[in-house]
Amino acid sequence: MPLDPERLPRHIAVIMDGNGRWARARGLPRAAGHKAGVDAVRRVVRAASELGLGALTLYAFSTENWGRPSAEVGALMRLLSWALGREALELERNNVRLGAIGRLSDLPAAARKDLAAAVERLGKNTGLRLTLALNYGARQEIVDAVNAGLADGVRRFDEQSLAQRLYTADLPELDLVVRTSGEMRLSNFLLWQAAYAEFVATPVLWPDFDREHLIAAIREFQKRDRRFGGLSTKA
Ligand code: FPP
Repeated sequence: MPLDPERLPRHIAVIMDGNGRWARARGLPRAAGHKAGVDAVRRVVRAASELGLGALTLYAFSTENWGRPSAEVGALMRLLSWALGREALELERNNVRLGAIGRLSDLPAAARKDLAAAVERLGKNTGLRLTLALNYGARQEIVDAVNAGLADGVRRFDEQSLAQRLYTADLPELDLVVRTSGEMRLSNFLLWQAAYAEFVATPVLWPDFDREHLIAAIREFQKRDRRFGGLSTKA
């Protein structure tokens, strides 16, 4: 069944999981799994652009990931710099608008610099909004939003005054969260934004995820009956 182009999710977020297991299954170091994960990122970003999706947010590094061995954290940060350099031209050609969310100021200096350069170069494009969640945690995001509001003199929050201070304030509404590798948790990812999003879990490990898996997740989304707490719109 082809996708209904009128009912594409406005914003898809992906919890990219399973790089380590992919590597272990091949007798490779974990870093090799992350490197293969970058190739999956490229395939999925390309597919998302071609499908005409509005926004794609990828969970690349959580605030909890600092707890991994320092060699793995270092490898992930170097991989980020390397991938941004390698992909910049194709992202530019595809008019991808790059952004990043998270406590970016706590990233290592080199990663911060390379990320800022890529966002500067690609941040004004008008196509797919690709957002990398880096040193991201949803609880921290909500705390940061509250503190930003207090600094602005807000004395009493409502949903709008809080949402407009989240890192995602200018992104479209989140419609679909995809998690790979069979796990069923949100893991501190976009907790506020996911309130009414559909959740699709796939057993596929992230390095094996490709265009067809993305399409399958969107097809699953299009089959769901989204009620937002109300009654079914289907007969
Ligand atoms: C989870 O797999 C994946 C991560 C913690 C990192 C995701 C990073 C990438 C895909 C590469 C860098 C991204 C960009 C955007 C350049 P895991 O290590 O937790 O896997 P496991 O659960 O099998 O051990």
